[in-house]
Amino acid sequence: MKAIILSGGKGTRLRPLTYTGAKQLVPVANKPILWYGIESIVAAGITEIGIIISPETGAEVQAKTGDGERFGAKITYILQDQPLGLAHAVKIAQPFLADSPFVMYLGDNLVESQLDLFLDQFKTQNLDALTLLCEVENPSAFGVAKVDQQGKVLRLIEKPQNPPSNLALVGVYIFAKTIHHAIANIEPSARGELEITDAIQYLIDQQQKVGSFRLSGWWLDTGKKDDLLAANQIILDSCLESSSQGSVDEQSKVTGRVSIGGGSKIINSNIRGPVTIGDNCHIENCFIGPFSSIASETTLIEADIEHSVVLKGAKIVHIQQRIVDSLIGERAQLKPATQRPKALRFMIGDDSQIELI
Ligand code: TTP
Repeated sequence: MKAIILSGGKGTRLRPLTYTGAKQLVPVANKPILWYGIESIVAAGITEIGIIISPETGAEVQAKTGDGERFGAKITYILQDQPLGLAHAVKIAQPFLADSPFVMYLGDNLVESQLDLFLDQFKTQNLDALTLLCEVENPSAFGVAKVDQQGKVLRLIEKPQNPPSNLALVGVYIFAKTIHHAIANIEPSARGELEITDAIQYLIDQQQKVGSFRLSGWWLDTGKKDDLLAANQIILDSCLESSSQGSVDEQSKVTGRVSIGGGSKIINSNIRGPVTIGDNCHIENCFIGPFSSIASETTLIEADIEHSVVLKGAKIVHIQQRIVDSLIGERAQLKPATQRPKALRFMIGDDSQIELI
């Protein structure tokens, strides 16, 4: 068994961050989203992993993630010249995959359950494809599956107006080599992409065995800001352990689960976990509230922030209002020019969103 993780794509829904970086490297609880997928694949005993990368962000993904040694895996990078669809990514990975069955994992997805359960079902039922399904409230926004009583998939529909069920397709699949033949026989969709749903539908139409596994735990697609913040909240809530390698002065109060990285200084501040703070941060006269992830080398002075993700090297200084539900990019600066600002002055990248609430 091998695995591919799709880490190319356009990432339009996470602009402006994706103008300068890969969305799969945006950290959740201070760890790149992509790495959760790698760890989960390795935990299931799969160590041969191909990562699909784009010309724009591939070098960054490769430099950050490396050859796989740190995960106990062997990673091969596979360049996809253009984001021509999930099935196109499988097509270009075919030389790497050869005849092996494989897990396909979308690099911006997070799944709570362990992969072993899915792999067992795939093997024991001798399937051509195993889809993971999760009940959602708004199925029209997803690929949706119609399944029979035994979980056999009868039909897949992309973003249906009248969904046949509330079972959305999760971004983790397991395929046998027969998927390559299916992909060779489908045409690009109206949006110009080779759709993996069309390839699976082809398998169904050819009487091949397509099964489903219904997820009971959480599943998160972090492709948009609010979903990313939700992922950050869930990971901090369920996985964070307290630790402190930095310094916390006597005027500061740290409650709940908080991890503080090496070289970070907490001065006269109130940190209420779950909160994770990276290395070499300067935090002074601040309130950092629950579900916040503060990356390394950030400076927060007289700031009040909660339920937010702050990326590396950002600076937030003397902001009077509480900052909530926010995603602050690398090296971004939020600071008033004077003590009592009377106007707002901005230099904001394309597609940025500022909400004054
Ligand atoms: P999507 O989130 O569906 O697509 P996208 O990354 O282009 O994002 P947006 O809709 O915001 O523009 O992709 C799911 C995952 O698959 C994501 O990690 C990117 C990756 N991907 C590829 O590697 N190659 C592709 O051709 C496509 C479409 C996606």
